[in-house]
Amino acid sequence: MLMPHQVEPPTIALSALDPHEVAEAEIIALAVAPRPDTSGSTPEAPLIGPGAEQLLDRLDDAGVDLFAWLEHAGCAGAAGQVAEVPAVALGDLTALGHPGLTRLLLVGVGAETSTDLRRAGAALARRTRDCGSVVTTLAAGCDDALLGALVEGLVLGSFVFHMKSGKAPHTPVAQVVLAAVPDAEDRGAALTRACAVAGAAWLSRTLALVPSNIKNPAWLAAQAERVAESSGLEIEVYDEHALAAQGFGGIVGVGQGSATPPRLVRLAYDPPGATRSTPHVVLVGKGITFDTGGLSIKSSDGMSTMKRDMTGGGVVLATMGALAEVGCPVRVTGLIAAAENAVGESSIRPGDVLRHHGGRTSEVTNTDAEGRLVMADALAYAAAELEPTVLVDVATLTGAVKLALGLRTGGLFATDDALAGHLLDAGAAGGEPLWRMPLIEDYEPLLDSEVADADNAPGGAGAITAALFLRHFTGGLPWAHLDVASVGDSPVDVGEWSLGATGFGSRVLLHWLGSAEPVAGVRGRDGGRDAGRFGWLRALAR
Ligand code: BES
Ligand code: MN
Ligand code: ZN
Repeated sequence: MLMPHQVEPPTIALSALDPHEVAEAEIIALAVAPRPDTSGSTPEAPLIGPGAEQLLDRLDDAGVDLFAWLEHAGCAGAAGQVAEVPAVALGDLTALGHPGLTRLLLVGVGAETSTDLRRAGAALARRTRDCGSVVTTLAAGCDDALLGALVEGLVLGSFVFHMKSGKAPHTPVAQVVLAAVPDAEDRGAALTRACAVAGAAWLSRTLALVPSNIKNPAWLAAQAERVAESSGLEIEVYDEHALAAQGFGGIVGVGQGSATPPRLVRLAYDPPGATRSTPHVVLVGKGITFDTGGLSIKSSDGMSTMKRDMTGGGVVLATMGALAEVGCPVRVTGLIAAAENAVGESSIRPGDVLRHHGGRTSEVTNTDAEGRLVMADALAYAAAELEPTVLVDVATLTGAVKLALGLRTGGLFATDDALAGHLLDAGAAGGEPLWRMPLIEDYEPLLDSEVADADNAPGGAGAITAALFLRHFTGGLPWAHLDVASVGDSPVDVGEWSLGATGFGSRVLLHWLGSAEPVAGVRGRDGGRDAGRFGWLRALAR
């Protein structure tokens, strides 16, 4: 029941020193940007620096032509391009105070957008894995947002998961010093925040990669206990008996075919000084620890990545653990609906009818549409019992969202425009892009069932009808639904994403919940009055 032992992400430090003044670096990495095209004729040499003027002067004096090395490597400064200069080509190293230097790297930062810096950070991390230390000027001149993006790239580009009997195939560079940051002393809070976001993304990815012979619902709940303990969160875990007793028919039904029974995990975070009128965000994550499809069984191909079907639950867990470090100003409850969708003598059958928390019923026409069955219970419970200001769920819910959006953008559905806007902005800022999808009222009749309140597999535009199915459980509260089936898995190493599970979602949630006013402008139940000012009145009226 243990988490397989894993490598640690790099430690990252800030320094006001110039890179050549930081002793004992193995590798120095300088930023390279394409020169803005002024003439339109022959392209000019890229710009090297800033933050390394003295070092560049010294190299120049020693007759080292970095531009020749850039040209040799085909590096024009586009984000993530890297040129490598071995130490032997750098002249008198001791004169630079770097007897241990092995390489100088020139790393493209493109137009220095957050996306570009994230890419640059990831490229640097990939080039320096298995090394001891890097000193880089990539953060010189970065504001807090760009610094955050760079850190996300450095950490996630270092990512390794393994269960080899020997040592890890690679280890992340042990230490990165972000040099030439003049106000380094005042930027500690920004660095802590960035490391918290990147660390949560790392944890989400790790959780998604743990194989399902280890990762069952009780294991996921045990991981939640571990996170709650280290982050000082309140936690409660409902086992299969408690769930049955309290009417969680969706979670119980989906989990009943498995030898490892279901769990519902509730985690709670209160910001310093919270009162009853502090806005309350409830996050709900799909925690299907393996999805065989159930009796409506998947093909071998379709099943191959289904250990990742708890991505949403892992994202909610990792997010909860980092809320204090990002300074989240609102109360947050995290719910993880954990079950294994297995084939067994007790599995639910097509045609079964399940009764969700609160009484609404679903006809199971396809046991592979299990995610919405467990999410329905958790959403209904949240809306009825937790007095949320807003509800946000994260789920690898439908194959259909992959067809709609491809593999690089997550689907966002929302009943509130301000909430949608906050999440779209957070996704863009955190490098986890979302695209808003429509809740098309005309498709609502597709949910009709002969025997129950809804059919769990209504067909049609699958991502949309799944979202419409869930909306019935949100009690008219402002609600957003992230269908991350499109981005749960990366087919290649690209930017800060590594081949395999992405753990997509925790960067969106933490950029959002770490903002100054996460529910600003969000309206109340059924699009009513402003939630922030009248939330307490509604709570009293209920
Ligand atoms: N976990 C899957 C969705 C999924 C597919 C996630 C591919 C990641 C990659 C979900 O439980 C599922 O099987 N959905 C079905 C629903 C259908 C039966 C209505 C689907 O999308 O095919
Ligand atoms: Mn399924
Ligand atoms: Zn699933």
